[in-house]
Amino acid sequence: MPAAPKTIRPRRSCLAVPGSNPRFLEKAKGLDADQVFLDLEDACAPLAKPGARKNIVAALNEGGWGEKVRVVRVNDWTTKWTYQDVIEVVEGAGSNLDAIMLPKVQTPEHVVALDLLLTQIETEHGLEVGRIGIEAQIENALGLINIDAIAKASPRVETLIFGPADFMASINMKSLVVGEQPPGYDVGDAYHHILMSILMAARAHDKQAIDGPYLQIRDVDGFRRVADRSAALGFDGKWVLHPDQVAAANEVFSPRQEDYDHAEDILDAYDWHTSEAGGAKGSAMIGDEMIDEASRKMALVISGKGRAAGMQRTTTWEPPTE
Ligand code: GLV
Ligand code: MG
Repeated sequence: MPAAPKTIRPRRSCLAVPGSNPRFLEKAKGLDADQVFLDLEDACAPLAKPGARKNIVAALNEGGWGEKVRVVRVNDWTTKWTYQDVIEVVEGAGSNLDAIMLPKVQTPEHVVALDLLLTQIETEHGLEVGRIGIEAQIENALGLINIDAIAKASPRVETLIFGPADFMASINMKSLVVGEQPPGYDVGDAYHHILMSILMAARAHDKQAIDGPYLQIRDVDGFRRVADRSAALGFDGKWVLHPDQVAAANEVFSPRQEDYDHAEDILDAYDWHTSEAGGAKGSAMIGDEMIDEASRKMALVISGKGRAAGMQRTTTWEPPTE
């Protein structure tokens, strides 16, 4: 029986690092990203892929990644590279790797195929079966239509990731600027349906929802604007392509200090009011606000994100004295 997947790893900032560039691999170790993903797919030219596999195995085994979630993005199953990517990386560095990112997932079978291959390699090499997670990138119409089945295709699935560049290309969107609204569409957010579908599948199956890249790497304000939208919906994090985007992502996907403090206050207050000492009430007032069980659930989300981000509370809540 595979081990339960760790779905609550912090992933506010997920840093893309081309596997073909040893200098970037080294530099990534010192950046403050929650996750790194060492790329064998689109950031690696076809001729550079065999060398990149070796660089990645060496970089993972050298260590120095701190608390970062260590992920490798392999090539998708429609290419000729996937099986060798997985075998070489997991045989070479399986115990120093947390998840495999699978791009262009279109059907649940894509996930199942990776799950089965991982299980064989883990078994053969005495690794804990099921520990290595799967991150599924949703990058075209078929993947989005099948997202529910993809999310539940394996207990290894930890995240569902929006791949905006490939997605825009695959649906013939009339724009070349990833993450920004396509010119001519002026009645809302062209990505809303996609983002919400990913978020619903993630929440329905207890996975993390991750937003994809923003390619204008010098425009940190633009990055924040786009990140703010997916964070507001409830996404857990976003890809970052440049050191300047790391701090912005960590901030945008953490609660604001006042919201974190308020959430902890609600939890304390509700705990007390529902206790014998507090009169075993189902609803109560905290300042001018009425709170009940639903408020507690909302507060738990904010407090969970704040605690995972290592935030410290700056308030205390005391029961009323009269
Ligand atoms: C990422 O892989 C993208 O296609 O946006
Ligand atoms: Mg892509």
